[in-house]
Amino acid sequence: MKTIIAAIATGLFFAASAFAATATTNSLVIHADAGTTIISKNIYGQFSEHLGHCIYEGIWVGTNSEIPNTRGIRNDVVAALKKIKVPVVRWPGGCFADEYHWMDGVGPSEKRPAIINTTWGGVVENNHFGTHEFMDFCEQVGCDPCICGNVGSGSVQEMMQWVEYMTSAADSPMANLRRQNGRDKPWKVPFFAVGNESWGCGGNMRPEFYADNFKRYNTFIKNYPGNKVYRVACGASDGDYNWTEVLMANAAKQMNGISLHHYSLPIPTWSGSKGSATQFGEDQWFSTLQAAVSIEGMIDKHSAIMDKYDPKKKIGLIVDEWGAWYDVDPGSNPGFLRQQNTLRDALVAGCNLNIFNNHAERVKMANIAQAINVLQSMILTDKEKMIVTPTYYVFEMFTPHQDATLLPSELKCEDYSFGGKKIPGVSVSASVDPSGAIHVTLCNLNPTRAANINCELQGGTRKNVSGRVLTSSDMTTHNTFEQPDNLKPEPFNDVQLAGNGFTTTLPPKSVVALELK
Ligand code: AHR
Repeated sequence: MKTIIAAIATGLFFAASAFAATATTNSLVIHADAGTTIISKNIYGQFSEHLGHCIYEGIWVGTNSEIPNTRGIRNDVVAALKKIKVPVVRWPGGCFADEYHWMDGVGPSEKRPAIINTTWGGVVENNHFGTHEFMDFCEQVGCDPCICGNVGSGSVQEMMQWVEYMTSAADSPMANLRRQNGRDKPWKVPFFAVGNESWGCGGNMRPEFYADNFKRYNTFIKNYPGNKVYRVACGASDGDYNWTEVLMANAAKQMNGISLHHYSLPIPTWSGSKGSATQFGEDQWFSTLQAAVSIEGMIDKHSAIMDKYDPKKKIGLIVDEWGAWYDVDPGSNPGFLRQQNTLRDALVAGCNLNIFNNHAERVKMANIAQAINVLQSMILTDKEKMIVTPTYYVFEMFTPHQDATLLPSELKCEDYSFGGKKIPGVSVSASVDPSGAIHVTLCNLNPTRAANINCELQGGTRKNVSGRVLTSSDMTTHNTFEQPDNLKPEPFNDVQLAGNGFTTTLPPKSVVALELK
């Protein structure tokens, strides 16, 4: 008997040490007393475009729908978005913004013209969801609107009148039209973007031409009493540093923010297959995360250019489209960009959000593409059914960072290598909230090795630590309408206070959120 127990004990010992041997070793210093920068809550923003089923079916079901709604807007979706404290939503596009004429979307809905959404699937856009409906949606969610205006195919007058329509309290033509359409009080429009992807679907412009157009359109965006517009210039795609250089050199004085778009594709081609959202191996796990973390280098380089013209960092870098982009779900409309969302997407979200937090001095807003049923969404709907995705849960786990003070951190981590390439194996950011609680969000990008973390909290200790983890044994795990709870955060106990900090072991392929009080 003793021999059997000894054999079992020896086996357990070897199993445990084998696990320990496979874990990576990483050290982290968090400067608990050195926070100066606020992480803008707007980093946790969303993007909703007239594309596929983001607006229609995702948000808007109409007032006659049997799906529970408030003035045509889905109650389940609003409730889910409120839970993750969505601070701001960008609308109506994307590429759609530069073919959207806002007057088509106001007034009695039966009188609104039906148009063709030429960019996204060639489907009929009946304009039943317009300015009033979007503003109602924002009020129900409790978030700010970020309106993207039409530079590509719209006039200066049209943009000027839209701003007047939304924000003026005067006895003026557009404010009176708004009143006639049922809204007396002006709305607040704190953010207005002057065109989208003007280097591409928004007009194929040169940066010099766009810079002039930005200044021209922007001149006529008025700050009506009670509303101050934060003006976002169309910025670069990925590593187009010349675009940023030209915009900053020519229009820095007129802008409050400049955008950046970066998508993470497992197979980086825009024409051929981008890779499946759910059927992939470690090669595409790695390449997607490599694409995701590459945004840090882009932010550094765009910021360095901005620093030349704006050393005090008054102009925000607005990452108003980001996320993973795969082949559409089999059988779905290729123009609708509907894709499933797995544990891989949770890691993409966690790494991106950590990077944005760590660059909070410059990154003042980010809008993941997109909120519902499109690309890396928070929510998927199928008629009356609704599920939330792993990405949704990451946003939920990261909510304590919103408007908290960023704590500088230094991470020395082992690389995650695959196929001769390597990326940092761990991602982290930390913040302290007004009550003094410290929140640390960590991602272990390695799908096969746990990550041991030794963390020192410099300049501050805490008495309790608790955590939650999002992980699974399989990197393709995702939620479905049949099994909506396949992947959701669980309590995390593999963390202990140690010295003036803590030690923890992150499971392979996991997102962990810790709270230290
Ligand atoms: O998010 C989908 C599309 O990607 C947007 O409409 C466009 O701005 C970008 O190219």
